[in-house]
Amino acid sequence: MANCDICTVVIVLIGYMGCGKSTVGKQLAKAMGIPFVDLDAHMEKVEKMSIASIFDTKGEIYFRKKEATLLLELLDAKDPMILALGGGTPCYGNVMQELLSNANVITIYLQCSVELLTQRLWKEKETRPLIAHIATQEALNEFIRKHLFERSPFYMMASIKLHTNSRSQKELVEQILFALL
Ligand code: S3P
Repeated sequence: MANCDICTVVIVLIGYMGCGKSTVGKQLAKAMGIPFVDLDAHMEKVEKMSIASIFDTKGEIYFRKKEATLLLELLDAKDPMILALGGGTPCYGNVMQELLSNANVITIYLQCSVELLTQRLWKEKETRPLIAHIATQEALNEFIRKHLFERSPFYMMASIKLHTNSRSQKELVEQILFALL
């Protein structure tokens, strides 16, 4: 594995909502025999409420600060894991710089087309505070297109970038394992 020791490595999955960070992350963790941590699920556990309720009651600024703090705490522990971030985590404050300058971290961007993200997110938008209010699939498509354009410069800083559209979960896990060699 390039420039890292598997015993200390944290593989951080980044990408837009719906790109498959959690599903791929779980499979990858299983294949590598290390724990999987989902930052959103971790925050829900710490805050004892859903992400939607945190946005509702404490606001987005609180959420952004908390996700960055929890991420740094997890990295400080130096335990090997597959860590799926929230879609916005690497795009606020100096999170991406922190990740890139941490010798134990490998960042992987799961790249997905606007069309596929729209199809996936349309079915489950109610649980996602940033898109729950969007009324039509066309409006969601337009929102994702603009939002992804703003966030791409952060995502594209990842050390490994993988197109996910035409690949099964199994193929993606294999591609990641291959890229980590
Ligand atoms: C967000 C993505 C969500 C969650 C929150 C905000 C974002 O995570 O952190 O709703 O800003 O893109 P997922 O990418 O895991 O859905």
